[in-house]
Amino acid sequence: MTVKEKTIYTCQDCAAQYPQWQGQCRQCQGWNSLQEEVKASSGPVKRQGYAGEIAKLQRLSEVNLSLTHRIPTGVSEFDHVLGGGLVAGSVILIGGDPGIGKSTLLLQVIAALAAKQSVLYVTGEESSQQVAMRAKRLGVESVDLPLLTETCVEAILSQANKLKPQVVVIDSVQTMWTESVASAPGSVSQVRESAARLVAYAKTKGVALFLAGHVTKEGAIAGPRVLEHMVDAVLYFEGQSDQRYRVIRAVKNRFGAVNEIGVFAMTDKGLKQVSNPSAIFLSKDISAMPGSVVMVTWEGSRPLLVEVQALVDTSHAGNPRRVTVGLEQNRLAMLLAILHRHGGVPTYDQDVFVNVVGGLRVLETGADLPLLLAVRSSLTNQVFPADCIAFGEVGLAGELRPVPGGLERIKEAAKHGFKRAIVPAGNAPKKPIPGITVTAVGRLSEALSLV
Ligand code: TYD
Ligand code: MG
Repeated sequence: MTVKEKTIYTCQDCAAQYPQWQGQCRQCQGWNSLQEEVKASSGPVKRQGYAGEIAKLQRLSEVNLSLTHRIPTGVSEFDHVLGGGLVAGSVILIGGDPGIGKSTLLLQVIAALAAKQSVLYVTGEESSQQVAMRAKRLGVESVDLPLLTETCVEAILSQANKLKPQVVVIDSVQTMWTESVASAPGSVSQVRESAARLVAYAKTKGVALFLAGHVTKEGAIAGPRVLEHMVDAVLYFEGQSDQRYRVIRAVKNRFGAVNEIGVFAMTDKGLKQVSNPSAIFLSKDISAMPGSVVMVTWEGSRPLLVEVQALVDTSHAGNPRRVTVGLEQNRLAMLLAILHRHGGVPTYDQDVFVNVVGGLRVLETGADLPLLLAVRSSLTNQVFPADCIAFGEVGLAGELRPVPGGLERIKEAAKHGFKRAIVPAGNAPKKPIPGITVTAVGRLSEALSLV
C-alpha cells in the first residue's frame, strides 16, 4: 500500500484536529492555536505479528502480581506521594512550572535509585555539563549514572533496549520527537506520539518511567491534558519557584491515594524533605491576630495543620472584592452568602481577602468553617483563640457537615499542642482525646456564638 501524506490542523492547546485551518479552535475556543501538521497514514492500522489468531484469555485470579512489587526510591516523602514507592512498568508524569525543581527532584531520585537499580537518565533540555554541574551541587556527582543527551525517541529506545534499565527518566517530554510523525518537535502530535512510544516501551519491558513535563500558562501539560490519561500517575509541583517550600501533589495515581502530598524545601543543595509539614504551614507568630484561624486539612491520607487568614475591609467600589490565594474563589462567594443568611454577619459592603499561609492550596471543603471564622474574626477585630483549631464543611442551609478523617485531624491538632477544637457534629469523636477539648456543633450559627 502506498503511503499517502495528509495535512491536518491540530490545536496546540487541546489537541483537537481539523481538516482545514481556522482562526479559532471550536473545542477550546482558543485563538490562533491551530498548526499545520503532516500525518503519514498507510491505510488501515495493522498490528505487527498478528496472523489471525484468537486473543489470549486470562483469569483474573491467575494474574501474576509478583511483578508489581514496589521499589522504594529512598526519598520517603516522594515514596509517600507515589503511594509507597515505584511500581515496575508504571509511568509517572511530573508537571510544574519551569524552574520549580522537576529536574532537581528527578536527578536526586535517580541518583538514590542508581545504587540498587539499573537506571537511565535522558536529558533533552540540558547538556551533560549542565547535568553534571547540578549533580555536583546535589552532592551526587560520584554516582555511576548512565546519562543520555538525546531527543529522538527511536535513538533513546535503541540505547535503552541495549542497557536494559529498570528506571528511566525523560527530562522533559516536550523536547522529545519521533521519526514517525512529520510535524515539528514540541507540537502536540509530536509530544503525544513520543510519549505513547515511551509508555509502550515501559509497559512491555516492565520499566518504571518518569516523564518531566512543563506546564503551559493555561496550567495543562504539553499544552493540552493529552498526556494525563496515558500515564499511571500525574504529580504536580505546587507553589511558586520564588518560595522556599515545594509541594508535590498526586492528582492521579493508579497505585495510591489521589491528592497525596509531599512537602520539600528547596535549599542550596537541592530539595530536602520536610518531615513535619504541619509545622511549616503555621506562621511563626500565631500569638493571636484577628483574622487568623488554624485548621486541619486532609491531604490524600494524612492531616496537615494550616493557617487560614482573612482580611475584611470597607469596600469603596460598587462591587466589593473577593480575593483568594490557595482557596477557591467561587466557594468564598457562596460561603459569604451563607455567613450572612445563617450567621447574621453581612459582608456585602466589605472587601474580603483570604489566604492560606505557606503557598499551599486547600481544595477540600473542610476549610469552610475556619474560613468563615477567620472572616468574622477580621470583621469584628476579635482574636480567634490561638490554642483552638476548626474544620468542617458548611452547607447552604447553614448546617455543618462532617468531613473525612475527623479523628485523625483532631489527633494531629492535639499532637501540635492545640487545646480546643470546633468540629461538625458528625465528626465528634466517640471517646475523649487526651489533651484536647472537642466541641461538636451542628450549625454555623452555633459555631459563631462559641467564640
Ligand atoms: P530545576 O530542577 O532546573 O527546575 P525545572 O526542571 O522544574 O525547570 O530547578 C531549578 C531551580 O532550583 C533554579 O531556580 C535553581 C534552584 N536550585 C536550588 O535552589 N538549589 C539547588 O541545589 C538546585 C539544583 C537548584
Ligand atoms: Mg528542568
